[in-house]
Amino acid sequence: MAPITVLPLLGSLREGSYNRLVLRAARSLAPAEMTIAEHADLSAIPLYDQDLMDASGFPTAVVALREAIAAADAVLFVSPEYNYSIPGVLKNAIDWASRGADQPFKGKPAGVMGASPGLVGTARMQYHLRQVMVFLEMHPINKPEVIINAVHTRFDESGALTDAMTAQVITSHLEALDAWTRRLCS
Ligand code: FNR
Repeated sequence: MAPITVLPLLGSLREGSYNRLVLRAARSLAPAEMTIAEHADLSAIPLYDQDLMDASGFPTAVVALREAIAAADAVLFVSPEYNYSIPGVLKNAIDWASRGADQPFKGKPAGVMGASPGLVGTARMQYHLRQVMVFLEMHPINKPEVIINAVHTRFDESGALTDAMTAQVITSHLEALDAWTRRLCS
């Protein structure tokens, strides 16, 4: 089978992010023919401003993001939930990348994962993100959902995933994304 490349979009900038740990675990659980690339750097993307766009076009960091999305076979969102929704850092990056008829999200398969110390494990964020993906004309997989609650209990102090059920659902999600991407790209 030909290898496929997945671009992660990580919704947390902080070094000690649990979602960063989820992404790290996903990398080690991915199917053999799937490469999960380095996550896109969203930290240098300015706040969306149409005046900036009109004056000088896409900022350098947005050009890099758009090229990375276009080059990937699929996108993998891994994000916390902020105030029951998508963190501003991630939404702002999506808003920038989505401009223009050649916006690179169009037609892309997508996976979605999220982790929170709370009870609902980013479910509300994920459903807002799925709504956004309708406008972006993306094709997310539906099941299994990776909704990780009580995330602080699922990793050890070295950052290794210790929860078997979480590992299983991440593995199944990536297998589904792999199959879905191959189906859409064939
Ligand atoms: C949060 N947190 C949070 N958690 C949750 O389950 N639902 C929510 O709506 C929110 N809202 C929220 C808003 C803001 C501004 C912050 C900073 C945090 C808590 C959040 O899940 C927790 O900080 C996670 O650890 C953030 O993810 P990372 O950075 O660990 O990946």
